[in-house]
Amino acid sequence: MIEFTNVSKTYPGGVKAIDDVSLTIEHGEFVVLLGPSGCGKTTLLRMVNQLEDITEGSIAVEGKNIHDLNKIDMRREIGYVIQSNGLFPNMTIEENVMVVPNLLGWSKEKRAERFDYLMDLIGMPPENYRGSFPHELSGGQQQRIGVARALAADPPVMLMDEPFGALDPIIRSRIQEEFMDIQKKLKKTILFVSHDIDEAIKLADKIVLLKDGEIQQFDRPAELLNRPVNDFVSEFVGEDSVLKSLNLYQVKDLQATLDLPAVEGSPDGKVFHPHDSLRHVLAHLLHPSRQYVYVEGEDGTTNGPVSVEHIEAFVREITA
Ligand SMILES: Nc1ncnc2c1ncn2[C@@H]1O[C@H](COP(=O)(O)OP(=O)(O)OP(=O)(O)O)[C@@H](O)[C@H]1O
Ligand SMILES: [Mg+2]
Repeated sequence: MIEFTNVSKTYPGGVKAIDDVSLTIEHGEFVVLLGPSGCGKTTLLRMVNQLEDITEGSIAVEGKNIHDLNKIDMRREIGYVIQSNGLFPNMTIEENVMVVPNLLGWSKEKRAERFDYLMDLIGMPPENYRGSFPHELSGGQQQRIGVARALAADPPVMLMDEPFGALDPIIRSRIQEEFMDIQKKLKKTILFVSHDIDEAIKLADKIVLLKDGEIQQFDRPAELLNRPVNDFVSEFVGEDSVLKSLNLYQVKDLQATLDLPAVEGSPDGKVFHPHDSLRHVLAHLLHPSRQYVYVEGEDGTTNGPVSVEHIEAFVREITA
């Protein structure tokens, strides 16, 4: 858990980078800090592990004020992935991943075992990479090693500053998915910086949208997209925000919201499953040759027909 209480930061010279931020990130929550360049994302992140001083207010990690943590406690509690992965070029991959356990005085055996575990977790065979150097790896592999390094001492809290920023879209999307699988298993408390709304929607349990160091909205992605609280938020999420939000809803949500008739006999069109995304259903329906589809309930019933008008009615409900 990370708690910010009335946190402000003024840099020498007078720039107020963070202005009275209060925010609680619950245990196991994945929160994305989003906002335009210069809005204070990196500053907020760096204050958590004391790379920047706090001018006013306080921050607590796992219930402890960060000022009461020493360097060793800090490294146990917080894993940090910096934007450019920050691997040491003259150290092997194993040495890079094991920097923190080494500082914490782990035995050689325990470190080797942990290295093997982490490499399996990020999908890189440990025996192939143990003695390699960072320059021998692709950009995507280096970023994965950056993630493994932050996980090395199994910290409950992870800070990640645009960790997948430098990757091309296809590799980026694959690493995001791998990372979501890892997070499902490990349930870390994560504060993740991004300037990319699509990345935020895909990864976040909740999004913090910042502007000029102030929180504009702290909400679940669907809420941010469908119920922006001010003009800045609606402009930031974009005109297609409602369409984007359909990625976040499934057939079962449509069934729970609308009263769809049961189908007599066998359906004469495509049947979607309860966990298919409504964006897929809509894409299918927008094809000129198709007027309707059917949806299967979690109890095995089939409902429909469902047309574009039903999706519109659903959108009216969620944006009401
Ligand atoms: N060391 C510093 N000294 C003075 N001002 C700083 C310093 N670091 C950042 N700033 C200022 O604080 C504000 C917030 O910067 P920060 O790096 O936190 O933004 P950011 O949201 O991470 O931006 P980006 O998306 O470009 O990485 C900016 O106005 C920046 O110029
Ligand atoms: Mg930044």
